[in-house]
Amino acid sequence: MAEMVRLTIDGREITAPKGCTVLDAATDAGIYIPTLCHHPALEPEGTCRLCIVEVSGSIRHSIRVSCIQEVKEGLIVETNTERIRKNRRLILEFLLGRSPYCKELLDLAAQNGIVSTRFRTGEDDDCVKCGRCIRVCRDKIGANALCWAGRGKERKVTTEFERLSASCIGCGACANVCPTGAIRVEDRGDERKIFTWGQVLARFKLERCEHCNTPYVPKRYLELINNKAYRPVGLELVHYVCPQCQAKGDRLPDKRREAVLRQAVKWAVPRH
Ligand code: SF4
Ligand code: FES
Repeated sequence: MAEMVRLTIDGREITAPKGCTVLDAATDAGIYIPTLCHHPALEPEGTCRLCIVEVSGSIRHSIRVSCIQEVKEGLIVETNTERIRKNRRLILEFLLGRSPYCKELLDLAAQNGIVSTRFRTGEDDDCVKCGRCIRVCRDKIGANALCWAGRGKERKVTTEFERLSASCIGCGACANVCPTGAIRVEDRGDERKIFTWGQVLARFKLERCEHCNTPYVPKRYLELINNKAYRPVGLELVHYVCPQCQAKGDRLPDKRREAVLRQAVKWAVPRH
């Protein structure tokens, strides 16, 4: 059983597993801390700074980033002091300066009492530079198709040499974890396109479902499932059946295949 530590968040005494973050401990206790770059399926990177909290007790009184701050015995955490609210508002103003029309950001800013920004940079891209898309592609999918390029105002999510990616498998996990819809997947006919504000990152021809004949998946994505789920247990993915037909029970795989498919779903990253 995990070793537990006791700490106080917003005056409530709680226990949390040693090694977990202050954000996780607060979330488990039903205490809301705003986040942007955090996604529960990904390793935290502490990029956006929105989740700051004030800490004292067993560590020096300071402001810390709760998604990367580990819980400690005797820690005292305040999530909503005047100092924190002021800093959060400033962070939101900076973020809005770069993405002034981003609906998700505008909503978050409004919740924190911000309706305009003093820091317009001239950018108007919905990408809030949270890095979730890069992390999911690198750490969960293993394709490493996305990277950062440029600095300051020029910083953007792109592909190697800013060309159509040769490593992207077309799974769309990047779009699933993007908090603002700045990176997207579009299926038209038998083509899938993955794109951001200013760049098409990858294009794929879609394989058709053997049952309903609908184009639904890029071949490279199936190859990943084959390599990660089927081959390790001595099977080969040879039948292409779209999720809709699978859900309806059409051409349902036998029990063994069903178990393997469940394993394959582990790579699916939920929207959050
Ligand atoms: S495209 Fe989306 S997920 Fe990627 S850095 Fe920008 S906002 Fe974050
Ligand atoms: S959610 Fe913690 S720094 Fe972004």
